[in-house]
Amino acid sequence: MKYVRMPIEIESPEQMGYSTIKNNLSESSYTDTIFKDLDLNMNDLVICYGDHVGHPGLRKEILKGEASNLKIEDVLVTAGAASALFMISTSLLEAGDELVVAKPNYATNIETPKAIGASIKYLPMTFENKFQVDIEALKKLITPKTKLVSLTCPHNPTGTMISESDLKEIIKVVEASNAYLLFDETYRDMSFKFKLPIAASLSDRVISVSSLSKTYGLPGIRIGWLITKNPKLQELFLAAKEQIFICGSVVDEEIAYRYLAKRNDYFPAIKKDMQEKFEIVKAWMETQSYFEWIEPSGGVVCFPRIKPELKVDIIKFYDVLLSEFKTYVGPGHWFEESDRSFRLGFGWPSQSELRDGLKGLESALKASLL
Ligand SMILES: Cc1ncc(COP(=O)(O)O)c(C=O)c1O
Repeated sequence: MKYVRMPIEIESPEQMGYSTIKNNLSESSYTDTIFKDLDLNMNDLVICYGDHVGHPGLRKEILKGEASNLKIEDVLVTAGAASALFMISTSLLEAGDELVVAKPNYATNIETPKAIGASIKYLPMTFENKFQVDIEALKKLITPKTKLVSLTCPHNPTGTMISESDLKEIIKVVEASNAYLLFDETYRDMSFKFKLPIAASLSDRVISVSSLSKTYGLPGIRIGWLITKNPKLQELFLAAKEQIFICGSVVDEEIAYRYLAKRNDYFPAIKKDMQEKFEIVKAWMETQSYFEWIEPSGGVVCFPRIKPELKVDIIKFYDVLLSEFKTYVGPGHWFEESDRSFRLGFGWPSQSELRDGLKGLESALKASLL
């Protein structure tokens, strides 16, 4: 493995320091939860090695209300979705193995296969194609040597979704090959109009990945999971987990379990706030004249771009945005894309910070026109 630090992590607000940022529009999660608001008394918790697969109650909660063909044995709790993605890539790919991965994407979905030395074929998701998965293009990229197809939905950084019928067609395409489908559905609970089934419930060639980080504002407890109905894969991923972690943190798993058991107490307020914030961005997009976007269908991010006809000093734009308007967004290079596009996260800041940040974007752009 050849590890290289990713710009999205080096330049993340928690690593840069929050002192210069007032309007943080760079996050992909909902506002962070404060521990005291959960009102948890965990004094009796035994700080032991936990169940290697994950807290059984938590695995049950993860499946509550989901497709009945999934069982708790199909769920492996991981340290965030990030470690699930890492375990899947390192278990299924070796140097030289072929992988098809959507681009842009959450950086790890590309960077770990790169570190392994896999042979990567990108499936482009473009503004012109409304950031949709092009199934015909996908078919052309899959060869008998393809080991893994890797998609994210709702998509990061664009917030676009695929339809259920497209998902089913993609699964058929993958089943006709020698590959598995890695379906990163970390934003699934934040789908606006329709929610796809857990993809792993549709085929034993699919591995679903998700976590509590984004929708519930709980990235600090590092709780994610993978789901697959394939027992051989489960065994393989458990072997990977045991070699890296032995088991998860019992503290994190207990918090996650109790949170999910009471999710109906928390989620309505989160959903309402997310919708209001989305409406703020949508209204702003309609009134300003410098940026254009593909409207997202889920999650709390979108990937607007500076209108192609505008001549702009891009370095100045980001400089002014941060230094004068104390506003931070995720520049395109976080996703190996042009910095004329940026990820705008609208779920994390307060509504007034969001409004302020959007104004800042307009002012910074105006100041950087050539
Ligand atoms: C699509 C996607 N997958 C996985 C992750 C990892 O999240 P976590 O490890 O906090 O669950 C992220 C975080 O940004 C993401 O956007």
